[in-house]
This record gives sequence, C-alpha cells and structure tokens, in this order.
Amino acid sequence: MPVSLLKTAIWLQNTPLFIFIRQADYGYYLTLACHLTSISLFAAMIVITDLRLLGVGLRNYSVADVVNQLRVPKRIGFVLAASCGFLVFGTKAEEYYYNAFFRTKVVLFILLGVHALIFRQRIYNHPEELDKLPTLPANAKIAAGLSLLLWLCIVMAGRGIGYLHPPPLSHHFVYPD
Ligand code: HEM
Repeated sequence: MPVSLLKTAIWLQNTPLFIFIRQADYGYYLTLACHLTSISLFAAMIVITDLRLLGVGLRNYSVADVVNQLRVPKRIGFVLAASCGFLVFGTKAEEYYYNAFFRTKVVLFILLGVHALIFRQRIYNHPEELDKLPTLPANAKIAAGLSLLLWLCIVMAGRGIGYLHPPPLSHHFVYPD
C-alpha cells in the first residue's frame, strides 16, 4: 500500500480524540466492547432478513413485513457498529494498517458495497414485488446468500485482527505531558 496511507494512519492515531481514548482508563476496551455489542444487534437483523429472503425462516410473515420493519434497526445497528469500529481502529491505526486481517476486512467491505449496488434497489428496497411472485426468485436468494457469506467473513476477519502482532517499532504514538 502507498506510504501516504501509513502517514494518514499515524496522523489519525495522534489526533486529540484518539490520544484521549488510548489514555483513558479502559478507553480502548470500552470502545471494543461497544463495537461488539452493536455488531450483535446488527448481525441479528441481517440474519433474520436474509433467512426470510432465502425462504428458510419466518415464512408466516411476508417478505415486505420482515424487510421493511427491520430496515431502521438494521441501519442503526450498522451505523453504531461502523462508528465504534472506526474508533477502535483510530486508537491504534498504525498497528492495524499492517494487519492482514484488517486489510481483508476492508476488501470485504468494498465487496459489500458492490453487493449493495447490485441488489439493494432490486431486492431490498422493493420487497413487495417479491411477495407478488409464487416463489422467491433466484436473484433474491443469491442476494441473501451472498450477504450472509460476506458478513460472516467480515466477522471472522474482525476476530482474526486480534491474533496478528504488529511489526516491531510500529508505534509512533504521541504522549502529551
Ligand atoms: C459494521 C460491521 C462490522 C462488523 C460486523 C465487524 C466485526 C468485528 C468483529 C467480530 C471483531 C472482533 C472483536 C473481538 O474479537 O474482540 C472486530 C474487531 C475490530 N473491528 Fe470491526 N466490524 C465492523 C465494522 C468495522 C469498521 C467499519 C472498522 C474500522 C473502520 C472496524 C475495525 C475493527 C478493529 C480495528 C477491530 C479490532 C480487533 C482487535 O484489535 O482485536 N470494524 N470487528
């Protein structure tokens, strides 16, 4: 990766917000705990929505009921999980810059963006259309299957981050007096 990304990571971890989180008692651990807690809320919404789209769960409810009613909590969960993830990242950005699992996670997020571009408008934003069909179409099932797969890989990559050690001398932290 270009050096400028590394410089940005070192700059970010030395901004006042991240110096504060690093130095506060339990600051880093509380941020990580918030990341995990919001992920559990968010993951539940993803799993329920995608299982309904696959046709294997909540079949007594219409697709529109499940997708539409979970849309707002799903978005709130995502914003919370992503914001807390960013706070965790910024606290030790230089260290995470070198982390292969963190890089994998970034690539998986890009793939999720592509997934959203392809399927959000057609499937997730118009679930009423799916209820008019006699059976769930293949593209809805493919969208749901890929979504579940990508999110599972993101969780695995996230867990993997903690197992890799940064290279020596990769802690350019500012320590205020
Ligand atoms: C919104 C969806 C996300 C999911 C499902 C997710 C998932 C996870 C999981 C499962 C962990 C493992 C935590 C642990 O085992 O203690 C983790 C850790 C982490 N995540 Fe996320 N994450 C998400 C978003 C983000 C974002 C947007 C960022 C950064 C911009 C991020 C950065 C991190 C970092 C830096 C760790 C720390 C791992 C460590 O040092 O042990 N995450 N994530």
